[in-house]
This record gives sequence, C-alpha cells and structure tokens, in this order.
Amino acid sequence: MSSFVFRKGVLHAEKVPLPAIADAVGTPTYVYSTEALTRHFLAVSEAFAEARPLLCYSVKANSNLAILKLFAGLGGGFDIVSGGELARVKHAGGDPAKTVFAGVGKTAEEMEAALAAGILLFNVESAEELEALDAVGRRMGRRAPFALRVNPEVDARTHRYIATGLKTSKFGVPFEEAVELYARSRKMKGVRAAGLDCHIGSQLTQSAPLRAALTKVAGLYLALKAQKHALEYLDVGGGLGITYVDETPPSAAEYARVVCAATKDTGARLVLEPGRSLVGNAGVLLTRVLYRKQTPARRFAVVDAGMNDLLRPALYEAHHGFVPLVKRRGGKAVEVDVVGPVCESTDVLAKARSLVLPQAGELYAFLSAGAYGMSMASNYNSRPRPAEVLVDGEAWRVVRERERTEDLWRGERA
Ligand code: LLP
Repeated sequence: MSSFVFRKGVLHAEKVPLPAIADAVGTPTYVYSTEALTRHFLAVSEAFAEARPLLCYSVKANSNLAILKLFAGLGGGFDIVSGGELARVKHAGGDPAKTVFAGVGKTAEEMEAALAAGILLFNVESAEELEALDAVGRRMGRRAPFALRVNPEVDARTHRYIATGLKTSKFGVPFEEAVELYARSRKMKGVRAAGLDCHIGSQLTQSAPLRAALTKVAGLYLALKAQKHALEYLDVGGGLGITYVDETPPSAAEYARVVCAATKDTGARLVLEPGRSLVGNAGVLLTRVLYRKQTPARRFAVVDAGMNDLLRPALYEAHHGFVPLVKRRGGKAVEVDVVGPVCESTDVLAKARSLVLPQAGELYAFLSAGAYGMSMASNYNSRPRPAEVLVDGEAWRVVRERERTEDLWRGERA
C-alpha cells in the first residue's frame, strides 16, 4: 500500500495531485505524506505491542520539525547523533527523557546539553568517550545514564558504506572489551550503566544477520546482569530496510518476531531506532525537466534537482524510482540517464532507465526519497536547498521554505 498513487493518470500524495504542489511551490520540492508516516510508525509499534518497546525515531533520516512533531505526538522518542538534533527534538516538542544519543564523536558541550535536558541514554562508543562523559557527569553533579554500543561483528549484508557492525568499522566498542569497560564504570561517579546498545547497519533486507547479532548481544546483556550491573534497556538500533526497487525486507511483524525472540530472555526494555523504515517510502522529490540532450554515446534528461538535493544515487549508487507526475500516453521507451545540474560526473540521479524520453517542462518524482534525502542535502554549487511540503488528506502545507539566495551566504563576511 502506498500513499503515492496515480489517479486518472496523475500522481497524487494522498488526495493531493502532485502537479498542483509543484506549480505552487516550485521544484525541486520534497513532499511527505502524513498518512504514510503515521501508518509506518504504527506498523512498528503495533508489531512490537506486547514488548512495549521505546520507539526512538532516528532523526538523521529526516529531521524536519513537522515530522518530529508528528512522531512525538504518536508517543515516539528519538535517536539523535548531535547537539543540533537534540535542539530540533526539543524545538519540535519531543521528550528528551525518551531520547537516546549515539555517535562516536560527542563533544563535552553536546554531552552537557543532553545531560541537562534529561536524556534517557548516552550510547557510548569508546573508552575515552566514557571517561569524557564521566567527567561531564561529575562536573554537573549527575550520573549520566549510559549504554555501551558494542560491535557484534556480523556482516549486515548491506551496502558497504552503510554497514556499521563489521570488525573494521569505526562504530561501537569491540565485543570482547565491553565487560571490562562496564566493570571500570563502577568506579566512575559521573556515569551509571543503564543499558546495552548495538546497531549493525542500515537498509537490512534479511533477518539472519540481525538474529545473529542480537543473540550475541542478548547473551552479553545477561552476562552483565549476572555481574550485577543495573541494566534496564537493550537498544537494538535501527536498520530495517525498505523496498526501493524489488527488495523484500522483513515486514514489521517479521522484524518484531526476530528481535523479540532473540532478546526475550533478557527481560530488558527494548529500545528501537528505526529511521528509513518510517520515512523512506513516505516521501518523494519533485523535479522538472530542463533539457534533453543527446551525445553520440548517451541520451540524457537534465532535471532541476541535483546530487546536492538527493545525494544517495551519487554516494551509494542508490536506485530511486523516477516517474512522470502525469502519465505519458504512448511513446517508445528509450534508455536515458537522468542527470542534475551540478558540476560533477556523479550527478546522475537515475542511470540507464528505460523511459519515454522526458520533455522539457515535464514534472517527475523521484520515489522513496523521504529518508536521507533532505537531511543529506547540501548547498554545493551554491544551490539553495529544496522546499519541503507535508500532505494530510486533501490539505498540504509548506513545512520548510525553499532556501533563498541570500541564505547561501548567511554568516559570511566579504
Ligand atoms: N541507529 C544508529 C546507531 C544508526 O547509525 C542509524 C543509521 C540508525 C539507527 C537508523 O537506521 P535506519 O533505520 O534508518 O536504517 N545515509 C545512508 C544511511 C545511513 C545510516 C546511518 N545510521 C543512506 O542514505 O542509505
């Protein structure tokens, strides 16, 4: 089921025809569906209902305030990786007491802000970071609740750029060092061990690596409990994949079965950190065709969205569906590279697609663009970042204005 469907040949987000949004707001523009966001959130929370986990939406996937507010309203907590994301969560009305803080490079200032806000859990990724957190806690006369993020050293069988649980990865503490670090933490007055954490990678489409990692981590959790560490939370990270082309990731129910089966003996309160699975297929990026171009070697359609707006194809060779907002009648499909205006050879948003040749002025959508789309957008080539729109039934509103030219040099001095 999708909230983006063709009706009478026109692509709609819920009840809103997307050309109407493109004409009113311009392009490129990200459009999100409230219905899809809500349905994805509820699918996970209902699949896990019995376990009563804390569902901490991973803010990095899409940090728009309207989306954070929507998930906070559904009872969600948050998974953050920076002081900036903490500020966003607070600004959107999210609850720091339901928020977990990950990342290998938290600064003392970020730790202080999070501890002052009453964060639920610091997911600590190294011995030196634990010492730094201890120092912050002591300075503030508080014990910072922490979980060590352990590296379970399993191959998540995903793209190598987004696998995080390999032995060579910068993330997490080596599995064998965890016991000793928890033991050391007993002597630290500024921290208190409150949980255990792991995350093996993103866009997981198979359950076996997850099962293997969580089984290992659950065993460690029990060993730490046996050593009288007062752990309460088992954070299983995020990573559930979505369908971009023809992938068949586990359903929310299957995912819940695997997670719950692997962890039930621990008696821990589960923390989940889903990002992509909540927002990825709840968003599209609208773009307009500028030119067609043919060289002896290839046929191109040049569109007004570039790799600065949607980085995933350039960075990971990721595939996003590319469809016209108004279905074409007839016409012969040819092989086309859809490229952006950015001065980089990797600015190819859709490679070798079989399409009726797009025409100048025509509107298209890049599909499955709700996750790691706008949140990874940049101003490269001095391009203002896109607008964002949230649809709700027949209604829609701009939830982030298109950047203006003068925003490009805000804070600069000539
Ligand atoms: N928790 C931790 C500790 C993470 O590192 C991540 C993602 C998540 C949760 C959320 O994972 P998700 O449920 O979204 O898979 N930019 C890449 C993805 C990077 C993921 C980084 N970590 C992409 O566009 O595919």
